[in-house]
Amino acid sequence: MKTPQSPDEILASFKSEAPQAQSLEDATRLKNKYLGRSGLVSSSFDSISSLPPAERKDYGRRLNELKNLLIREIGALETAFSRVAVAPKEDFTLPAVKSFSGGLHPLTQIQDDIVGILRGFGFSVATGPEAELITYNFDMLNTPPWHPARDLTDTFYLDVPARDRLLRTHTSPVQIRVMKSRTPPIRIVAPGRTYRSDKPDATHSPVFMQMEGLYVDRGVTFGDLKGTVLAFYRSLFGRKVNIRLRPGYFPFTEPSAEVDMSCVFCSGKGCRVCKSSGWLELAGAGMVHPNVLKGAAIDPEVFSGWAFGFGLERIAILKYGVDDIRLFYENDIRFLSQF
Ligand code: PHE
Repeated sequence: MKTPQSPDEILASFKSEAPQAQSLEDATRLKNKYLGRSGLVSSSFDSISSLPPAERKDYGRRLNELKNLLIREIGALETAFSRVAVAPKEDFTLPAVKSFSGGLHPLTQIQDDIVGILRGFGFSVATGPEAELITYNFDMLNTPPWHPARDLTDTFYLDVPARDRLLRTHTSPVQIRVMKSRTPPIRIVAPGRTYRSDKPDATHSPVFMQMEGLYVDRGVTFGDLKGTVLAFYRSLFGRKVNIRLRPGYFPFTEPSAEVDMSCVFCSGKGCRVCKSSGWLELAGAGMVHPNVLKGAAIDPEVFSGWAFGFGLERIAILKYGVDDIRLFYENDIRFLSQF
C-alpha cells in the first residue's frame, strides 16, 4: 500500500490547477480528479492504514477538512460555469409570458358598428367640436331663451356670465354646422361626446356619447324617417325588433317623436328591463323645424329633412347587458377586457 499524500500537498496542487479552469467541463474534471471515487482524496483515505496508528486520527481530520473545502470550491466553480453556459441560451420549454394587447373601448365598438350600418344607408360621418358655440347648441336649433335645457344646472358653460361657449349638451349642433356649410342633399351621421351637469349614478354620467342622423333633400317625409330608423334598429339588434313613434317635443323638430324599440329581452311581452311595458325608449327624432332650415340658409319651401339622436351608452347597455353607465368611464381594465 502506498503512503498517502499529505493534505497540504493535495491542497497546493488544487490551488495551482483551479485558476486554469475555464468551463464546466474543466470543473467536472477537477471534481473527478480530487473528489471522485478513485480521486486523490478517496485514495488518501484508503491508504490511511499505512500510517503509524498515532498519526491516523490527525491525518483523517485534516483530510476531512480538505475534502469539505474542495467540495465548496469545486461546487462554486460548477455554479459559475453553468450560469455562463445557460445564460445566453433561450429555453423554449418554459411557459410563454402572456403578452397584453389593447382593444377598442366598448363604446367605440358600438360607435363603429352603428356608423358602419348608416354608411351602408348612404350616410357619411360629420363631426363638430365638443366645446361648442351656444348659438349652435341652442339658438340656431330654435331653442327659446327660457328653455330649461339652458339652465346653469343642466349645462357646463365655459364662460359665465358671457355664456358664449359651452360643452355641447347634444350632437345636434353638428346639424347646424353641416347645413350651414353644404347644400342638400345632405345625409350625415355625427357621433361624439356630449356633456350635461348630471350627478353620476347607474343611469347618468356627466359625459356620455350621442349619435345624430340628419337627412335633408327635396320631398323628405316622416315616412322616410320611420323606415330608416326601423331598418337601422333591425340591422343593429336583429330582424325581429319593431319600433313605435310617440309624439314628443324638441325645439328643433316639428313634428317631434320619441322612438321606442320593442324590448330585446322579452320580445315585447314585458320584463324587468322594459318595466313591463314591452318597449324601450331609445331616441328622439322629428322633421327638421323650418326655422332651423331657414337659419342655415336652406329654403324650407323647397327642402325638408328629418333628424334623430340617441345615446350610445343605452345601446351598449342593452347589447352587452351592462347595468351601470359609470363602468364605461372608470377605465377599469377588468371591465374593459371583457369586450
Ligand atoms: N338632441 C336631442 C337630445 O339630446 C335628440 C334629438 C336629435 C331629437 C335629433 C330630435 C332630433 O335629446
